[in-house]
Amino acid sequence: MSILCRKDILRSDLLSDEELGLVLSTATRFEGALKAGDRLANMQGQILATLFFEPSTRTRLSFETAMLRLGGQVITVADPQTSSAAKGESLADSVRTVEGYADVIVIRHPRKGSAQEAADAVEVPVINAGDGAGQHPTQALLDVYTIQKERGSLRGLTVSLTGDLKNGRTVHSLAYLLTRFGVRLLLISPPGLEMPAEISADLRRAGAQIREDSDLAAAVRASDVVYVTRIQRERFEDPAQYERLKGSCVVDMALVRQGKPGITIMHPLPRMDEIGTEVDGYEGAAYFRQAANGVPIRMALLALVTGRE
Ligand code: NCD
Repeated sequence: MSILCRKDILRSDLLSDEELGLVLSTATRFEGALKAGDRLANMQGQILATLFFEPSTRTRLSFETAMLRLGGQVITVADPQTSSAAKGESLADSVRTVEGYADVIVIRHPRKGSAQEAADAVEVPVINAGDGAGQHPTQALLDVYTIQKERGSLRGLTVSLTGDLKNGRTVHSLAYLLTRFGVRLLLISPPGLEMPAEISADLRRAGAQIREDSDLAAAVRASDVVYVTRIQRERFEDPAQYERLKGSCVVDMALVRQGKPGITIMHPLPRMDEIGTEVDGYEGAAYFRQAANGVPIRMALLALVTGRE
């Protein structure tokens, strides 16, 4: 039984270094098995429930692919309008019900703290696939896995996190993990969308080297990896404010050319206009490889929390 057996995956900052290493090494092993064409049966007889109360393409489908690749089966609520949530059922009651059907639950919900609430209500492992503007720990794990694969190692790298650092849950989770590897962080956001103060304080307390700035071009020139994010329109109360900010922090080929040779460009996707499509042909554009890395990482997580790695 691994150290992650029967554990919930709720926040990246709650993972120990040992757990982090285990997820990455297990993902590498599963990726090798997939590449070799092995048919895996780790999750045979197990059922995953994916409960998505917010839109998703990559996260839900890669979790479901991961489960199927491991020989398990999947039940899903992809549209909350078709579940009893639409009748006003509480999250706790919904997950308590689903616990009667499934061995592991993956949940995405618009409320920060919702994954913790779900985990408190059930015994089966709960994996947070995004809790509002809170965290998205499994994305951060696949992001770290991607940087490791693209760059060989994270040690000594400078990484820029750009875009909506206030509302973007991926960058919250990722900043915590990158700090563990001693990565130097440049935090680049439009005014008003800075990294929440409590997270930067946590990072500084953990000894992180962070610089907050609004000069995207200077950050790109100083970086080994640029992690671009979308302005999170659905978190804005004032649509006019979104309209004012949406064109900021755009990475195009002219900017990439100013960067170090071989600079890696990442994005959790979906992208709006933050990365020009002309960047897609650049060899350091890693975002679609990054999305594919969701499968081995999520295979590792599903197998580890159910003790079937
Ligand atoms: C992200 C999310 O849902 O937080 N998407 C994803 O899971 N790849 C990023 C985003 O929506 O901007």
